[in-house]
Amino acid sequence: MAKPPPSAVDNVVSLAKRRGFVYPCGEIYGGTRSAWDYGPLGAMLKKNLRDAWWDDIVMLPCWGRKGPDGDKVSIVPLDTCIIQNPKVWVASGHVGGFNDPMVDDKETKQRFRADHLQGFYAGTKEDFAAMDAADEAVERGLAKFNVRPVATLIANSPSEALELMQRDPKLIKPFKIVRVYQTSSAGPGTISVKVEERGHASIGIIKAVEMSMLVNEPESVLSPFSGKAGALTAPRQFNLMFYSYTGAVHDEATKVYLRPETAQGIFINFKNVVDTSRVRIPFGIAQTGKAFRNEVTPRNFTFRSREFEQMEIEFFCHESDAMAWYTFWRDFRMEWWKSIGLAGDNLILREHDTDELAHYSKATSDIEYRFPFTAPGYGELEGVAYRGAFDLTQHTEHSKVKLDYFDTERGPINPKTNLPAGERYTPHVIEPSAGLDRGVLAILCEAYTPDTTRASGVFMKFHPRVAPIKAAVFPLVNKDGLPELADRLHADLVKRFGRYGLIETDAKQSIGKRYARMDEAGCPFCFTIDGQTREDGTVTVRHRDDQRQERMPLEDVVVFLERALQL
Ligand code: GAP
Repeated sequence: MAKPPPSAVDNVVSLAKRRGFVYPCGEIYGGTRSAWDYGPLGAMLKKNLRDAWWDDIVMLPCWGRKGPDGDKVSIVPLDTCIIQNPKVWVASGHVGGFNDPMVDDKETKQRFRADHLQGFYAGTKEDFAAMDAADEAVERGLAKFNVRPVATLIANSPSEALELMQRDPKLIKPFKIVRVYQTSSAGPGTISVKVEERGHASIGIIKAVEMSMLVNEPESVLSPFSGKAGALTAPRQFNLMFYSYTGAVHDEATKVYLRPETAQGIFINFKNVVDTSRVRIPFGIAQTGKAFRNEVTPRNFTFRSREFEQMEIEFFCHESDAMAWYTFWRDFRMEWWKSIGLAGDNLILREHDTDELAHYSKATSDIEYRFPFTAPGYGELEGVAYRGAFDLTQHTEHSKVKLDYFDTERGPINPKTNLPAGERYTPHVIEPSAGLDRGVLAILCEAYTPDTTRASGVFMKFHPRVAPIKAAVFPLVNKDGLPELADRLHADLVKRFGRYGLIETDAKQSIGKRYARMDEAGCPFCFTIDGQTREDGTVTVRHRDDQRQERMPLEDVVVFLERALQL
């Protein structure tokens, strides 16, 4: 596989560690690549992002905007258990179907998803040369099959690759172009083509029957990693759910699962919410919380971890309104990510092709961010899915409790009352499901701004709303009454802004070093108390983004910050 450019993400990881945003989980025992801890600044950044979501979804849904029905969007909050009755996960399909096929190379101990192998191969010219060597081994009778594309094209860009394919209709005819960088879900016997939008933009074409070769004759398959025949294990279905046991006896009857998504806690409480609150369709239920997936290949910093946090909305509506609500949520969620600082080319909305959709879905889109390790491709930040009535129907079937809704505003008009007679139906669902950790990671990557003109060589350009430190107050020197003045301003700012983020104060080191530390922490404004403050009651404010400094009266600082922080 083509390696991503090392520098960009490494720089973010190193700053994240240095400044206390993110630490490897259990670092003193060697750490793990599958889980991460948030340090003081990271915990604050994550809280600010979660709070921004909560404020804009639950407290003032969609900034008070009206939905496609002309009414204000209605959302209620929920907080459900991580460990649910195991039947929940049977009904949701997670026990039966939340699997990744996993293959190991017994020689190199590399583990990977067989469907990735099956779906495409994309790499550099060098990678393909290695595969050619493997081909030769097959020719020499060392193995019957070689897990590799049945045909390859090498081009300098996806568009050039597509052009090459289109120039040769014989080549393109049996293949179906699905899309950039997705793995294939093609069934046995089918062939699919994927275009990888990475640095070298190679194209891999591979037969989906390779998977059956791995099942039936693993000893005859040549590993693309060790290059040895029989080195790959047959694919094993690997359920992604973590499990544990309740009580003292550990057997199938006491087995429980940690939730792999927060969504199911919402579906199973649909009736409770309808019966105990005054919600009326259309309305949504929102919750944030931890989810757990035993990912086969956790990687790319916090992007794919085994423990992560989601921010999910299940929005319930009548089937006839569902597409309008889908479009509304898709567009709002995109706008929201832009509003907290992910504006620009790094953020895209990708509508799924029809053959990518789950059988119950009429439309799904992903909001994707160009992370340094996916560039020039993108990685999913949030999915917005039209899930039909699938989940409520499944839980109705399995629990035997009807999860439907009696809508008094629909149905034929009753001639006696001249009012609708009502309609009972199972609501359809739009699900905007976002990853909080991926959001934090995207914000860290977006904010990372190299700048050789400053001492730190870099600053974190956080949107003020998510910045973990909102302001800092520094006495220029640690004497002459300046620390006392700084303490007073600091106390005022903590009182007014402390609930939104940290307010720093620091009297030690040179002012340049203190500014440099705040630049790396992404603090938008530093206020410096100096000799002139004692004379005329003014302070200097330093703007993080352009290092501009201006003086203002001490009594104007609160009003200035209120405006500048966009709270
Ligand atoms: N209820 C739908 C659902 O869970 P998903 O696409 O599997 O959908 C939603 O997950 C979001 O959760 C993703 O867009 C991503 O941001 C985040 N997410 C999923 N798996 C993750 C992982 N292993 N590590 C970090 N974030 C993850």
